[in-house]
Amino acid sequence: MKVISTEKSQVLAARIAAALGVATADVKFARFPDGELYLAAGALDDETVIVGSVTDNDSLIQLLLLIDACEDSQNHLVIPYMAYARQDKKFKEGEPISARAVARLFGNGVKDCLTVNIHEPDVLKYFGVPTRNLSLANDVGAFIESLGLDNPLILAPDEGALTFAKGVAAAGGWDCDNLEKTRLSGSEVKIAPKNLSSKDRSVVIVDDIISTGGTIVTAAGMLYQQGATEVYAACVHGVLIGGAYVRLRASGVKEIFCSDTIERACSRFSAADCIASAIRK
Ligand code: R5P
Repeated sequence: MKVISTEKSQVLAARIAAALGVATADVKFARFPDGELYLAAGALDDETVIVGSVTDNDSLIQLLLLIDACEDSQNHLVIPYMAYARQDKKFKEGEPISARAVARLFGNGVKDCLTVNIHEPDVLKYFGVPTRNLSLANDVGAFIESLGLDNPLILAPDEGALTFAKGVAAAGGWDCDNLEKTRLSGSEVKIAPKNLSSKDRSVVIVDDIISTGGTIVTAAGMLYQQGATEVYAACVHGVLIGGAYVRLRASGVKEIFCSDTIERACSRFSAADCIASAIRK
């Protein structure tokens, strides 16, 4: 077995290979003058783990090319982060179900597929092969443990993220709640934990994705007003578009951390062990 990856997932791929005790395969990447992507895979084994987070359109094409280049091998596909997964239904007439459109691209050339905290696990049914979705809730919890916070309150930004937050909180036996938005007037909203108080407590807001950071910036400001001593932000996928990291820090968020499903300077824990043990099973 060898592990091969798209350009942007090479660090995580090397970690997965190390966790599996196998080698990585070389890939040469280039671009044609018209902008088309090119790649050439080096020597492969008869079994290949193909790792590629879909972070943008180029990485999607690169992943499809890589699968095709590995056609003579038995392939296990790993998509640690899949962009377009949040458009998982038609919110307005005429829209595509983008998550379905992307998932359907992966029915050929692979035996099975792993995703990690995909935004809506229901979209797994659109992959053309058996697909399992892994959760890093325990890994997020282990990282929070390493911060040595005194009895932190783990908060989901909304009810939809509560199951994930509960998984994180279970790692340390911490309190867990979700934030709730109450409209006070036409222009005023209050965001506060639904059942528990954040007063005089360290709070960690946990989510699957931090994208613009807007959700957490608003919540952090309100939590400080309500007496939280410090607010941290943790996620699996640090999309962090634009100036999200800076905006979060400026809002008083003490530390932002994410996994390496998308390689970021604030990737503080790895999805590699979780992925490697799922591949071994
Ligand atoms: C939403 O459905 C996701 O779970 C995240 O809550 C969302 O992507 C965060 O977005 P942002 O960082 O832009 O507020």
